[in-house]
Amino acid sequence: MIETPRLILRPWSEADREAFVHIVSDPEVGEWLGGARTRDQAIADFDRMRAFWDAHGHGQFAIERKADGVLVGRVGCRRQPPEWNHPMMGEVEIGWMLAREAWGNGYATEAAGAVLDWGFQALATPEISWTSTSNHRSEAIMRRIGMQRASERDFDHPDLAQGDRLRPHVVYVARRPG
Ligand SMILES: CC(C)(COP(=O)(O)OP(=O)(O)OC[C@H]1O[C@@H](n2cnc3c(N)ncnc32)[C@H](O)[C@@H]1OP(=O)(O)O)[C@@H](O)C(=O)NCCC(=O)NCCS
Repeated sequence: MIETPRLILRPWSEADREAFVHIVSDPEVGEWLGGARTRDQAIADFDRMRAFWDAHGHGQFAIERKADGVLVGRVGCRRQPPEWNHPMMGEVEIGWMLAREAWGNGYATEAAGAVLDWGFQALATPEISWTSTSNHRSEAIMRRIGMQRASERDFDHPDLAQGDRLRPHVVYVARRPG
């Protein structure tokens, strides 16, 4: 568990399932993640996220707001599986997502900064990267937590078709301090 001034980053429990489905069913949240999830897709995502923790001992934390105990999103680090068909395979990637109603409060930046510190220690990695389709809200978080653009590593996602607006990916990187 990780504590920040306004948030608790904690493991998932069964009680989070419906709140998670609500968050990822929102079209604005899904805009940069391949679209809003149907209920069945959201439930499968929830199960996959928890199974990843069980299998690998790291992954996405639930973000709980201290003030009212509400689940406001997720944030975490994940070492991309070596067998994955992806230019970032084997790398440790950071990622985040907030419920639409929680945007605009700095929660993602607060959570991501804490997870970056945690990731360097827990995963003993010299580098943490972020990659996704370019989007200004996420890129602003990266600048705020000190990640650097690594444009020479940009790539097209191999699983997405030519012309898909989510295909071009940008890369940002943070190096372990010291
Ligand atoms: C990406 C995402 C998490 C960004 O959310 P966000 O609310 O913009 O990010 P933050 O929580 O860091 O909040 C930053 C905003 O809160 C404002 N803010 C308000 N109070 C603040 C405070 N106390 N501290 C810091 N910032 C504060 C900032 O000024 C900034 O506002 P701006 O958008 O007008 O510049 C959100 O848009 C999202 O979940 N998108 C869908 C999923 C996604 O795209 N994930 C990334 C793909 S991996």
